[in-house]
Amino acid sequence: MGIPFIDLKSQYARIQEEVDQNIRNVLEHGRYVMGPEIAEFESKAAAFAGTRHALSCGSGTDALLLALMALNIGPGDAVFTSPFTFMATAETIVLTGATPVFVDIDPATYNLDPARLETAIRDLRIARPELTPRAVMPVDIFGLPADYDRILKIAETNDLRVIVDAAQSFGAEYKGVKTASLGDIACTSFFPAKPLGCYGDGGACFTDSDELQDIMQSLRVHGQGEDKYDNVRIGLNARMDTIQAAVLLPKLAIFPEEIQVRQTVARRYNEKLAQSGLVLPLIPEDMLCVWAQYSVQAKDSAHRDALQAQLRQADVPSAIYYPTPLHLQTAYADLGYKRGDLPVSESVGERIFALPMSPYLSEADQDAVCTALLG
Ligand SMILES: Cc1ncc(COP(=O)(O)O)c(C=O)c1O
Repeated sequence: MGIPFIDLKSQYARIQEEVDQNIRNVLEHGRYVMGPEIAEFESKAAAFAGTRHALSCGSGTDALLLALMALNIGPGDAVFTSPFTFMATAETIVLTGATPVFVDIDPATYNLDPARLETAIRDLRIARPELTPRAVMPVDIFGLPADYDRILKIAETNDLRVIVDAAQSFGAEYKGVKTASLGDIACTSFFPAKPLGCYGDGGACFTDSDELQDIMQSLRVHGQGEDKYDNVRIGLNARMDTIQAAVLLPKLAIFPEEIQVRQTVARRYNEKLAQSGLVLPLIPEDMLCVWAQYSVQAKDSAHRDALQAQLRQADVPSAIYYPTPLHLQTAYADLGYKRGDLPVSESVGERIFALPMSPYLSEADQDAVCTALLG
């Protein structure tokens, strides 16, 4: 068997008894929607994140949409975000009727560049006076926190709400606090490949605001009011399945230890690839990355093609996140961006690729990955 890109099988083998038992419990009590495991998971997830509230939902995409809707963001509003991310980040902004404004990334961390954010807000006020700057949605790409001190300060100065896209960074820390506790609302994904994943789709919103939590709770179930058949706002069906919460509970219990092992795996890559000539990930001081991906940069796209072919030959999987930044995706053509507008994201997209990463990646397999890569 080849080396898995993300080794979920080994994790399952470790906690199989608890996972199977939890799933059986759900089958027996039969409360497939909003069963007791949901509240138990939410309370443990909030304790882990360090927030007053956690609201589970159907996916990371649902989480972002719930957050935007709860903050009443819609037509005429501008939301600043990174173009170097997964489709869903900006997609949810468009779904509310608001306009995403892409801000280029820092070439070292691949996260939204605060200096460019300031310029983008200033430029927008002049060039698009019909739009109101309302929010910023930083993304913790590959599990690395964005530059929150600077972003939160700029948001405060400009009266912007902050929605953290922590889909890839659940468990990551910025100056000792979890990124899921930052901003007005932080959103994460429990898609299976994420650092903490379930066995299907799942997500959650985190906030310290009782008011926002109440609104999101209502939005999650068709804008419900006093009871199921009292609807006070337009909402969604965005609940997490009980079975997913049942799966997440034992996974959350071992997650802190897995995060530590992820650091060891990443450190080993750093050491083994130190002389490779590749651009390795940079983790600024005071940040704990959860390594949703371990991504490196080749010299150019031809070099990346050659290295990925070398890996394929040795039966080592690799992947590219993200070859096309969002501003160049057909789906966002109406926004009017063109190649050259966000050069850092474009250039990184041409050179970056990710190596197998998981807390269950053995040192022998990691050696095999590096040997294949170094030729
Ligand atoms: C940065 C980012 N935002 C949002 C999402 C959406 O999450 P989901 O796939 O759970 O809807 C993902 C993951 O897929 C992501 O990586």
